Amino acid sequence: MKELAVFGGSPAVPAAMVQTWPPLTQEDRDAVLAVFDSNILHGTSAPNALALQKEFADWLGVKYCLVTNSGTSALHMAVASLGIGPGDEVIVPAFTYWSTAAAVLHHNAIPVFVDIEPGTWCIDPAAIEAKISSHTKAILPVHIHGMAANLGPILAIAKKHGLYVIGDACQAHGATCDGRKVGSIEDTCGFSTNRSKNLSSGEGGLFVTNNEEAYRVAGMLREFGEVVVKGKDREYNAYGLGWMYRSHEFVNAFCRSQLRHLDANNAGRKEMAAYLTAELANIPGLKGPVTPPNREPVYFSYIVEFRPQELGLDVPMDKYKAAVQRALGAEGIGLGQWQHVPVPAQSVFQDMEGYGKGCPWSCPFYGRKITYRGDDYPVTIAFIAEHAYLAAVHPPNTVDLMQRYVEGFKKVLGQPKALTKLIEQMG
Ligand SMILES: Cc1ncc(COP(=O)(O)O)c(C=O)c1O
Repeated sequence: MKELAVFGGSPAVPAAMVQTWPPLTQEDRDAVLAVFDSNILHGTSAPNALALQKEFADWLGVKYCLVTNSGTSALHMAVASLGIGPGDEVIVPAFTYWSTAAAVLHHNAIPVFVDIEPGTWCIDPAAIEAKISSHTKAILPVHIHGMAANLGPILAIAKKHGLYVIGDACQAHGATCDGRKVGSIEDTCGFSTNRSKNLSSGEGGLFVTNNEEAYRVAGMLREFGEVVVKGKDREYNAYGLGWMYRSHEFVNAFCRSQLRHLDANNAGRKEMAAYLTAELANIPGLKGPVTPPNREPVYFSYIVEFRPQELGLDVPMDKYKAAVQRALGAEGIGLGQWQHVPVPAQSVFQDMEGYGKGCPWSCPFYGRKITYRGDDYPVTIAFIAEHAYLAAVHPPNTVDLMQRYVEGFKKVLGQPKALTKLIEQMG
């Protein structure tokens, strides 16, 4: 057996092999440089903004798209454009990036958390109905780590109770549920295009809907509550409260250029993920993700599960996980921890200060006492404890790199005694 790199052996993966996301081409550079020459740097009617909206709507199969300056602003527009506000509750998963819940709070509505389903880490449809109250206006499933939430039962629950469904597809451009792309199924949906995302423009977001009224309201919200129409004099009248969520033409042009490669990049992610999952099925100690038959993920993150019992190791999960992460890291294989607690356990929900003076929870329209307890979400807690994401499972990396990863997995997990030694050393 080769000596583990953590004990002085040579790493399984040469550092130079690992390439960063997103892949950049001369086409991307030319697209951004052309904006300088156009002399049009911003505006909701700027050429790249309009073209990006049309191209993304066509790619997704929806009627309307508005480009924004972040995924969070797109989600805020997705909530507010449906008329959700003070006194209303929105159901969100306990496992997500907290921006999902922030988008609800930003319009003075109240997030109510639901645990996730084992295996997919998306909201558990079976746990939703117990959280519906007379205040509930919408369910906000998050398509997390590139996996679509199970929208069929969620839409059925929404229909039964007269609720909207709002999608958070910030991590799932191109993921499908029952053969349809997420974002095209919900009433409204927000995508992020920040640096790490499957569709990346550095920073940015996309709001989508098939609902004409939601599109109209979201458009006003994006730009100060005004109605700005291409070719018409600006009124300078705010019809309501709005924000400044416009995007820059550099970003719009870059995003359009990246959109041309989205399907190919997603295909590359899927190929690498399929290879890893098949290999990990035969490597005790670590497992790949489970994909339900009605869903096709796009692997924003490739998630692995830690299984010490398969190596006959009777050690606490946290110690095993830390040691495997350390040992694989030394081999040149990055494993990252993303969320550390369920979102409702974060300080913002424990302190409930909100905008100050307890708003929006203290809003008189609400009139209900809600408490957030991190312990109420056992599946989320177990998921966080037992999983991590594997770095660099994205183009321009290929299966060649994944083969090196598999060599590293076999090397580290094939030496339980060395792992036990490492666990002891790490204390
Ligand atoms: C699930 C989820 N929701 C919302 C967001 C917010 O997107 P952004 O950072 O573009 O505001 C992100 C990304 O950071 C995310 O991963």
